[in-house]
Amino acid sequence: MYSGRALQSSRAVARGMRGFSSGQSLHSQQEAVRRVTVIGGGQMGSGIAQVAAAHKHEVTLVDVNSEALKRGQAYMVKSLKRVAKKKHSDDEAAQSRFVDEIMGRVTVSTQLQDAVGRADLVVEAVVEKLQVKQELFARVSEAAPGTAILASNTSSLPIGKIAEGLEEGQRRRMVGLHFFNPVPQMKLVEVVRTEEADAQVVERAVAFVRAIGKEPAVCKDTPGFIVNRLLLPYMMEAVRLLERDVASPRDIDTAMKLGAGYPMGPFELCDYVGLDTIKYIVDGWHKDGAGLKGNPLFAPSAKLDELVKSGRLGVKTGKGFYDY
Ligand code: CAA
Ligand code: NAD
Repeated sequence: MYSGRALQSSRAVARGMRGFSSGQSLHSQQEAVRRVTVIGGGQMGSGIAQVAAAHKHEVTLVDVNSEALKRGQAYMVKSLKRVAKKKHSDDEAAQSRFVDEIMGRVTVSTQLQDAVGRADLVVEAVVEKLQVKQELFARVSEAAPGTAILASNTSSLPIGKIAEGLEEGQRRRMVGLHFFNPVPQMKLVEVVRTEEADAQVVERAVAFVRAIGKEPAVCKDTPGFIVNRLLLPYMMEAVRLLERDVASPRDIDTAMKLGAGYPMGPFELCDYVGLDTIKYIVDGWHKDGAGLKGNPLFAPSAKLDELVKSGRLGVKTGKGFYDY
């Protein structure tokens, strides 16, 4: 594990603050984002990397695990091939060129500090654990340019809390950029504005979201932002229905798809998101969520705990509520 904060503060003193107050020009803070470093090569990180590269950005995808990077690259290629087939349906050479051109803009790396050194934007998409994200940003903020936007794709953790160990100038450059799964298909990105975030940084983040073909929704830094604050209670109520043996997962999913017009049922969606991620979110809110602490909606679920403990994390491990 990193000795994040101690390292961060001593280096920051040595180098001067790497924030707005360090004398960076206003111009460089307003320039369009061109170089993006995405940290975490799992389902979200690889999706974000793919979409940014497809919209002409130079992308570096970082993970601690080189196997995860290989899986991430394979996911991107598979996903792009699907788009290529639709775009150039009877021209295989054009399909290959399309995929190769986009993948040519993606570099992968396990070396965090090198990978963020030239970034205009750093998007973190690692495991949903506060301490891991805090330690990561302590290292990132040391190595990234003083004008880079620092963004977390967290589903549930307060952005202000992730940023709390950073220098003031760095905290002003920190926002949430919350993408949705599957990233290539889902049009929304929540842009989370902390109390400390600089207005120009938020504007630049919004411009980036539009530049990658997504629709931004700007919101305050409250638990679950907009979508997850509404979605997680729904998912957890479905789990409680199952625990009370009201109906099977299949019947609950069918009911919500055919009776409420949802594209996926709640159990399909839970498996898609990842049951570990859902558990981290609800456990975190129940223990410590602002305004949510102790809320029975997010009380631990024996069913969820049992599935996670047995490694049934959903689609990503081939088993969850369903087998894949
Ligand atoms: N790149 C770019 N676009 C792509 C693509 C790719 N690789 N693959 C498909 N698309 C496009 C398709 O061309 C299509 O666009 P058009 O309608 O313009 O033709 C569109 O994306 C939909 O494509 P699909 O054929 O894959 O759509 P589908 O009908 O099979 O639906 C689904 C698949 C989008 C996943 C749908 O089932 C759905 O919306 N499910 C719900 C997903 C959801 O709720 N996600 C949120 C989870 S919560 C979360 O993410 C937040 C969190 O913090 C936990
Ligand atoms: P995942 O398990 O698929 O991937 C996480 C990746 O992060 C793994 O490849 C892991 O090796 C890597 N990693 C862990 N610690 C790291 C570190 N210190 N440095 C670099 N890499 C590290 O998870 P995911 O579903 O992609 O979720 C990632 C983040 O995105 C979480 O914060 C999650 O809450 C959020 N999110 C998830 C979804 C979803 O539907 N799954 C949607 C929106 C947001």
